[in-house]
Amino acid sequence: MIIEPRMRGFICLTSHPKGCEKNVLNQIDYVKSKGAIDGPKKVLVIGASTGFGLASRITSAFGSDAATIGVFFEKAPAEGKTASPGYYNSLAFEAAAGKAGLYAKSINGDAFSNEVKEQTIDLIKADLGQIDLVIYSLASPVRQHPVSGVLHRSVLKPIGDTFTDKTVDFHTGIVSDVTITPCSDEDIANTVEVMGGEDWAMWMDALLNAGVLADGAMTVAYSYIGPKVTEPVYRKGTIGMAKDHLEATAFKITDDLAKIGGKAFVSVNKALVTQASSAIPVIPLYISLLYKIMKAEGTHEGCIEQIQRLFSARLYTNGSIPVDEKGRIRIDDWEMNPEVQKEVAELWKGATTENLTAIGDLAGYKSDFLNLFGFGFDGVDYAAEANEMVEIPGLI
Ligand code: NAI
Ligand code: NA
Repeated sequence: MIIEPRMRGFICLTSHPKGCEKNVLNQIDYVKSKGAIDGPKKVLVIGASTGFGLASRITSAFGSDAATIGVFFEKAPAEGKTASPGYYNSLAFEAAAGKAGLYAKSINGDAFSNEVKEQTIDLIKADLGQIDLVIYSLASPVRQHPVSGVLHRSVLKPIGDTFTDKTVDFHTGIVSDVTITPCSDEDIANTVEVMGGEDWAMWMDALLNAGVLADGAMTVAYSYIGPKVTEPVYRKGTIGMAKDHLEATAFKITDDLAKIGGKAFVSVNKALVTQASSAIPVIPLYISLLYKIMKAEGTHEGCIEQIQRLFSARLYTNGSIPVDEKGRIRIDDWEMNPEVQKEVAELWKGATTENLTAIGDLAGYKSDFLNLFGFGFDGVDYAAEANEMVEIPGLI
């Protein structure tokens, strides 16, 4: 069928298999253009199908010749209905990995469940023996707890005070005030259950106990800090409490991994347009101002540039891994440059519907958003019939 973007709120209901393939191939080309990384050889990526996780899988495979197992939760195609983009991304990734002679298999299911953890361990035992890197890159609004069975829902709310500030509807370009009422204590607990570190620790515990972690294995999860303007809804809001928990969990996991000489890290990444971040109020306006400034100074990066730099300039340098005073890897260094932040803060004050296309990069935001779903790529014939029913061979 001919596939066009169909928007509903913060999501796009359709995705384009050829466009998703193009997105993956572009990222592979980028990683190859940067040269080989003396990196991991057997990698598990949890949250491997989009955003930072997909970029981590691509960087491992095409930067370091790694065998990869990817875990994700994506919708398969049905007659007349496209798959979710992460499904087509993973299909394209596996095809490219296969062509390059690289092992790649994927598991599509709920990573929070015991079952998917067991399936993953079985697959590692059968095919790879042991792994040397685990990337934890889940972003989800819900988690069913594997022990209690409770379905926890995360919320994006401020803590304590009502928050009012500007936001942009990036589809229409309209800048308006948004008011978000503060969360309840239960909201905080639920958000920590979903996006905190418990599930990461459960994964690492299961992998360690199964004997599938190589000596010196490393694990990395992703966090975010960001600017003052987003603090009430992000770092000092409910999601920030979950990120605090995630960051604290890294130390706990490092203790647990001591017997194999392993280590857990959190990497603080840059704000980027992904399915996860476009749903957070205020962030799209911040990103559109940030993009404009960073593109002008030549420091703008997407997920693949961020992760390629994380691997080549932080994790696998043959030296020690640089961390901040809280033990975190910082690859958000260019975003958090005080000059850049000063400019964003100034632009923020004056941002309106009328001037945003001039002072911000709304076009870049929109284009990145369409790209997430495989739309807007050069070299893809969107007027042509596309086969939505393509499937990932051997998907578990
Ligand atoms: P994303 O939405 O692009 O990717 C989420 C991944 O998790 C996908 O592969 C999805 O299939 C998988 N997933 C979700 N629920 C699952 C489940 N129940 N079982 C198995 N897989 C599941 O998100 P993004 O933005 O790449 O986020 C990844 C991490 O990076 C998150 O921890 C996020 O907080 C962090 N981060 C994101 C930033 C941003 O600006 N987007 C900035 C800094 C950190
Ligand atoms: Na991801």
